[in-house]
Amino acid sequence: MLKLPSLIITDRDESRFLLFDDLHLLWDHARGTDLLETADKPAAVDASDPVAGSPDGGAVKPAGQAVLIVDENVMSAHRERITAAFPEDMVRCFEVPSGEESKSIAMWNRVMDFAFSGPLKRNTPLIAIGGGVTGDLAGFAAASLMRGLPLFHVPTTLLAMVDSAIGGKTGINHAFGKNTIGAFYHPRTVLFDTAFLETLPQREWICGISEVLKYGYIADPDLLEDGAALADPATRTPELLQHVIERSVRIKSDVVATDAREAGRRAWLNFGHTFGHALEALDNYRNINHGEAVYAGMIAALFVSRRLGYEASDESLLQLKGKYRLDLGPYTSRTDELVTLMTHDKKNRDKDIRLVLVSAHGNPLVTSVSDISLLQEAWKYTFDVLT
Ligand SMILES: NC(=O)c1ccc[n+]([C@@H]2O[C@H](COP(=O)([O-])OP(=O)(O)OC[C@H]3O[C@@H](n4cnc5c(N)ncnc54)[C@H](O)[C@@H]3O)[C@@H](O)[C@H]2O)c1
Repeated sequence: MLKLPSLIITDRDESRFLLFDDLHLLWDHARGTDLLETADKPAAVDASDPVAGSPDGGAVKPAGQAVLIVDENVMSAHRERITAAFPEDMVRCFEVPSGEESKSIAMWNRVMDFAFSGPLKRNTPLIAIGGGVTGDLAGFAAASLMRGLPLFHVPTTLLAMVDSAIGGKTGINHAFGKNTIGAFYHPRTVLFDTAFLETLPQREWICGISEVLKYGYIADPDLLEDGAALADPATRTPELLQHVIERSVRIKSDVVATDAREAGRRAWLNFGHTFGHALEALDNYRNINHGEAVYAGMIAALFVSRRLGYEASDESLLQLKGKYRLDLGPYTSRTDELVTLMTHDKKNRDKDIRLVLVSAHGNPLVTSVSDISLLQEAWKYTFDVLT
């Protein structure tokens, strides 16, 4: 794959993109923000001090070592690049085991222990390098430590580049439901270095494409075709990849800029997710990946949209059916449980289930559904077309 320039978003409010061309530039950028110079003298930290923890009440001394939280697979595939970009004496590195299980209280606790095992100040940068799992976990750690360390994201999956690294949602899972513990906490910078994608397994490309298709349904129908072209390595050109990442990031940051805490239109980004999260929870986050669950969830949401009289075809999704490694067989008789799990979704108000539907491709709407049998039908339809 051709090396593309990395994209770096430095100003999320204006959704401005600057082009850089390698990971080490994140380091330079972080230095430029004066976060990484060694302190003249160590300052004891008082996390309860709103001024900044300096004993003499002055400005906080810049932190000496950054905390790197890196996905273990990314570290083994890209060790040379990562260690070249981040001088050993300037970082402390924690490797996150691969998989959704890492978005747990136990793993968050391990990150806390690791962070406190070395020098830590309120301005110690925390740099997350990995997919959505590492980003969500590290983001929540950054939000929690000292009431908030400066956070930098380096997404390494397509899904993280087009979705999870943008928008400030961080969190971990609880038995009650997915992402039910967390915080809104924005990164200072997100650096996109597409060279990471050279080692991304095909299954993970497909998972990321689910979120691209989501943008196709809620904002830009052209992305339905672009996403499908990206699914096939033969048509996955660097130009197409760059276009899809930029367009997706733009859509997400525009939505988030106007509704950071999901009081209104940010909910559109959950298209397919209320169904999808239920499937992931029923599967205990084991065999079905987030992007695969969202794919099935979008098919179910489009079914409900059609049943309510809207123009919402699932043809673009079904065309890609053969690309997804989804085994829904074990769940086909468990639609009752799936609907119950959907009632746990934190976006619900009262007993109704809040769903994002589409009234036409590119036009989302949020509605409350109380008809349980309609939801069960949607699941049955989805299982029928996908198994
Ligand atoms: N915060 C948000 O707004 C938001 C949005 C969407 C999804 N999410 C969350 O994101 C998570 C899913 O993220 P994901 O799909 O990136 O999964 P992931 O982080 O589990 O990564 C998928 C797999 O790819 C591996 N990997 C990552 N980068 C690689 C690379 N460059 N080369 C080789 N292997 C690599 C990982 O080790 C892992 O095995 C879910 O927990 C979901 O809830 C969050």
